[in-house]
Amino acid sequence: MADATSELKKIKDEVVALSSSPLYRYRIENKYFPVIGEGSHSADIMFIGEAPGENEAKTGRPFCGRAGKVLDDLLASVGIERKDVYVTNIVKDRPQGNRDPLPEEISIYAPFLDRQIEIIKPKVVATLGRFSMVYIMNRYGLEWEVGPISTLHGKVFEANQFKYVPLYHPAAAIYNQHLLSTLQEDFKVLKSVV
Ligand code: URA
Repeated sequence: MADATSELKKIKDEVVALSSSPLYRYRIENKYFPVIGEGSHSADIMFIGEAPGENEAKTGRPFCGRAGKVLDDLLASVGIERKDVYVTNIVKDRPQGNRDPLPEEISIYAPFLDRQIEIIKPKVVATLGRFSMVYIMNRYGLEWEVGPISTLHGKVFEANQFKYVPLYHPAAAIYNQHLLSTLQEDFKVLKSVV
């Protein structure tokens, strides 16, 4: 069986060549990179955000802008090193002007996320925001539990292949101290299940 690193490289090559994506032209026109994911290939925790922002598309690295700084601080607050987790997004290319991803964009990129989960086999999946939450719950046997993120965040679910913790998106906490405190509490929950 091929090792995780070469399987992940295959995903990268396929996404780089994904000219059928509605976001491909925007990527090329702006000299952006697709953002595949980053971190440990044997991580216990996988974080799944929404889609790359401008900083991410310019560098090819997930969560490297302001929301990334919030994520880094949250990880540090519970003593988890970013190099020990894997961080990715459901949509691998930047949507125009940071708009929400469209259902057809989620459909085209989600199979790559499924493969990343299959390769890395995290013990815990933590979604950041509503779009990845809805996808993961519907895809991994938690469809009956789907509800508003305001009631689901910080709860621990048993999905088919991993424990699952929905979290608010760190970008939502940039100007909202209350949400930041909520995320800090939810990261303690996350730490307690690994
Ligand atoms: N927001 C996301 O959802 N993902 C990133 O990589 C950066 C910001």
